[in-house]
Amino acid sequence: MTQSTKKQQAALAAINYIRDGITLGVGTGSTVNFFIDALEGHAQRLDAIVSSSKDSTTRLENLGIRVSELADTGDIDLYVDGADEATKHRYLVKGGGGALTREKILAGSSRSFICIVDDLKLVNVLGKFPLPIEVIPMARSYVARQLVKAGGQPTWRENFVTDNGNHILDIRSLNITNPPELEKRLNQIPGVVTVGIFAQRPADVLLIAGDDGIRTIK
Ligand code: 5RP
Repeated sequence: MTQSTKKQQAALAAINYIRDGITLGVGTGSTVNFFIDALEGHAQRLDAIVSSSKDSTTRLENLGIRVSELADTGDIDLYVDGADEATKHRYLVKGGGGALTREKILAGSSRSFICIVDDLKLVNVLGKFPLPIEVIPMARSYVARQLVKAGGQPTWRENFVTDNGNHILDIRSLNITNPPELEKRLNQIPGVVTVGIFAQRPADVLLIAGDDGIRTIK
């Protein structure tokens, strides 16, 4: 099975978690795109849909699905999103697509967070995938210097501006053995908007698609 087919299988498995009348949050990325495409027949069952990025909003609207603002809906019942890396403790690295800030807001405001991944994303220790950090543009070099002191190797994601008008640093060489602690520590650096570690609010359910089907970790 290709990685793309596995992404699609994980996305389709998440459709089973949709209930009538809920407010649904939609993440960002190629895995979520399969979820959005499969949503077409279910959107009318939902009370509202909130999106984590301009890209996902466009994809939803192109399917004729109306997108609401989180400020209007209040907390969301179910949030479905992908990840760049995931552990069996349901800690994640996210932000490969640069939508981490809005994704973290939706994850934080969700009653249930389902993360959909293919089995290549499952790791024992987070950090092989460069950790994305969204920063205020004027703080970019300052934050990068602090990250070097913390043992990381930051690279500026050039020619990329987030939906919030900010920049992304991708950090290599971080061995993330204690994800909640590192998330909290890096969040303290002035100029950091969002750290791509999702551990203070991990996923509630991990749906991992592999050659033998879907593995669920709760
Ligand atoms: C975007 C994300 C995505 O969830 C993550 O990059 C996974 O993407 P894909 O499903 O394309 O592999 O965090 O900011």
